[in-house]
Amino acid sequence: MMTPIRLTCITARQAEDPSYLRHVAGSGCTGVVPEYEQQWGQIHPAPDTWNWQPTDTIVQRATAIGLTVEGHCLVWGAPDYPDLMPAWVTRGSWTRDALLATLQDHITRIVHRYADRIHTWRVVNEAFDDTGARRDFVLQQVIGDDWIEHAFRYAHAADPTATLLYNEYGIEWGALGGGNHKYDAVLAMVRDFTDRGVPVHGIGLQCHLDLQYPSLPDEHDFPAVVESFRDLGLRVQTTELDIRVDRSAAEPSTLLRNQGLVTALVCRTIDAHPGGSVCVWGLSDDTNWLGAAAAAAPYDERGRPKPMADALAPATPGRQPADRAVR
Ligand code: XIL
Repeated sequence: MMTPIRLTCITARQAEDPSYLRHVAGSGCTGVVPEYEQQWGQIHPAPDTWNWQPTDTIVQRATAIGLTVEGHCLVWGAPDYPDLMPAWVTRGSWTRDALLATLQDHITRIVHRYADRIHTWRVVNEAFDDTGARRDFVLQQVIGDDWIEHAFRYAHAADPTATLLYNEYGIEWGALGGGNHKYDAVLAMVRDFTDRGVPVHGIGLQCHLDLQYPSLPDEHDFPAVVESFRDLGLRVQTTELDIRVDRSAAEPSTLLRNQGLVTALVCRTIDAHPGGSVCVWGLSDDTNWLGAAAAAAPYDERGRPKPMADALAPATPGRQPADRAVR
């Protein structure tokens, strides 16, 4: 059995807090991912403005205590959120060549700056909608379908040794039927990429889940999804795990146990393959992006481990038993 690899997202402010970093390390995580500091609108808000400081802080503080850092994300296929894709890009008047040059410059500078510290990148994030169509936004409109493969080629040219992922939500199910058009579209794209030698090395299954989803990962379909990407020679990572619970729906202890069981299924499936890792999108309920009421994270608001934490790190010494956390 390989040692399971666990990561969490982190903000620059959290990275500046030694007690938070101890919490990260104590949870069994060996790596971190900037939560939003590398979104295009954050790191490159104007054509000649680069906001490196927040990512620099994360990289310095994390690597100083031996944590790895993965990059997130070079390009987000998102329409009109200025943080994700700033107005100077979305509202610019572009030729295809000019926008490709801008895309290349954006990717190259970021990858070069962190090439000695960041060895895995989520290159493109969320480029498909639920129907399996490409999201309609400036890169898609001006460049066309091949903007994604260009992004991967630029990242590869900037650091030929880096592991490059396509990252997406809602593709954790559908290998055994059920009509998940987004899963079908992503699988077809990466099959085409691997056939043609476009440098994609892995898939990030975000795994933003909800205990009420009918499509929650199950013991047959989820491994089949993972296998379908593994068959193409890709690594499969869970990149943003969180699991919402609806606290009004059942006994809290039952919900938290179920949250732990889904986590365990995700972990044992991902851990079974080389290069697999599980990243949680926020360690505790009070810092998770969905808000404390969603109770989607492995630790509660007071930092106490829930069953989800045990499922993530079954063998971490020194942690309190999860049953203390059952409310
Ligand atoms: C979220 C962050 O957690 C928030 O802090 C930010 O404001 C918005 O983005 N998919 C992703 C993540 O790939 O980057 C998102 O993170 C959650 C959805």
